Amino acid sequence: MAAQAKDESAAISSDESQEQEDTSTIITALVSKLPTRQGWSQSYVLYNNYWINPLFVHGILRLHTTFKPRHDDIILASNPKCGTTWMKALAFTIINRSRYELGNNDHPLLSRHPQELVPFMETPTCHTNGDGLNYLEALPSPRLLATHMPLSLFPPQLSSSIAASGRVVYVCREPKDAFVSRWHFASKFRRCGGEHSTDNLESALDMFIQGFSPYGPFWDHCLEYWRQSISSPEKILFLKYEDMMSEPVKHIVRLATFLGVPFSVKEEEDGVPKEVVRLCSFDSLSGMCVNQLGEFARLQDKVIDKSDFFRKGVVGDWVNHMSEEMGRKIDRVMEEKLKGSGLVL
Ligand code: A3P
Repeated sequence: MAAQAKDESAAISSDESQEQEDTSTIITALVSKLPTRQGWSQSYVLYNNYWINPLFVHGILRLHTTFKPRHDDIILASNPKCGTTWMKALAFTIINRSRYELGNNDHPLLSRHPQELVPFMETPTCHTNGDGLNYLEALPSPRLLATHMPLSLFPPQLSSSIAASGRVVYVCREPKDAFVSRWHFASKFRRCGGEHSTDNLESALDMFIQGFSPYGPFWDHCLEYWRQSISSPEKILFLKYEDMMSEPVKHIVRLATFLGVPFSVKEEEDGVPKEVVRLCSFDSLSGMCVNQLGEFARLQDKVIDKSDFFRKGVVGDWVNHMSEEMGRKIDRVMEEKLKGSGLVL
C-alpha cells in the first residue's frame, strides 16, 4: 500500500512539474513577442501598457496561474523608488509588534534586510533561487506581500480576494525625487564582473517623461491605485512619501489602524508609534550592518547590493541633480496626466 501511495504521489508531482514546465514555456514564448526597449541599464518589455523587466512579467504571469490568495493577505504596493523599503520595515514592525518587541535584541530588522522580511510577489528569483511560488505558500498568516505590479495586473483571484476582505497599502512619491532616485539606483547596478552602467540623466529624463521607466508610465501606476483608493478607501490606503516624512507618527498611527492592528491608548502613551518611526527611520536602517553589507539579489547579469536601497532618504533632493527646466518637464507632464483626478504629487 505504502509503495503504491509513494508511486502515485511521485506521479502527481511529476505531473505538476510537467505542468509547471509547460506553463513556463508558454509564458516565455509570450514574453518573447512583447515590444522591447533598452534603458535604465536593462531591457524592458511593454506588457499591458507597462514597461516591466521581462523576468518580472514572467513572475506576474506565473502568479496569474498559481497564486493562492488568503483572506487576510496584506499587499504593500508601490512604484519603484517611492519608499518600498521603508514601508516594508514599518508594516512588518507594526504587524509583528506583540511578537517582536521594539527595543529587543532579537528584532528581525536588526538581522534581516526589510526587503527580505517582506518578499516581492512577482520576483521569486530574488528570494528562492527560482523554486517557483512555494516561498509564498510557506509564509505564516497574515502574509505581508510586496509588489510593484499596477493594480490592473493583479491576478484576478487576488483582486477578488481584496474586494472581499484584503488590504492594499500604496506608497507614492513626488515624481522628480522618484526619478532621481531611480536614476541613481540604475546607475549603481553593476554587472557581475563589477562594471557599473552610466546612463546619462538627460536621456533618462526623456525616457521618464515618455512613460518609459521601470513599471512606468509612472503616472498611470499612481492613478490606478489613487482611483481605487477613492472608491474603496477601506481596501486601499494611499500614502505619500512626503507626508510620511513630515508627520511620521500621524501616518504610522493611520497605517496601524488600516492594517487592523491599531495602537492602544496605552501604547500611544508609552510612545510606541514614535519608537516604530525611530527604528524604521532612514538613519536607523541605513546604519545597520545587515543593510550595508552584501548582495540582495542578482538579476540576469546585474547585482543589487543591500545598501543600494538606502541613498539619502530626503524630500526634494532632485534640485541637487536637475536644472529647474528639467524639473519643469516632469511637472508639466504630471500636471497633464493627473488633470481632473484630484491627485496632486
Ligand atoms: P533616495 O534615492 O531619494 O534616497 P524603494 O525602497 O522604493 O526602492 O525607495 C528607495 C528610496 O527610499 C531611496 O530614496 C532611499 O534612500 C529611500 N529610503 C530607504 N529607506 C528609507 C527610510 N527608512 N526612510 C525614508 N526613506 C528611505
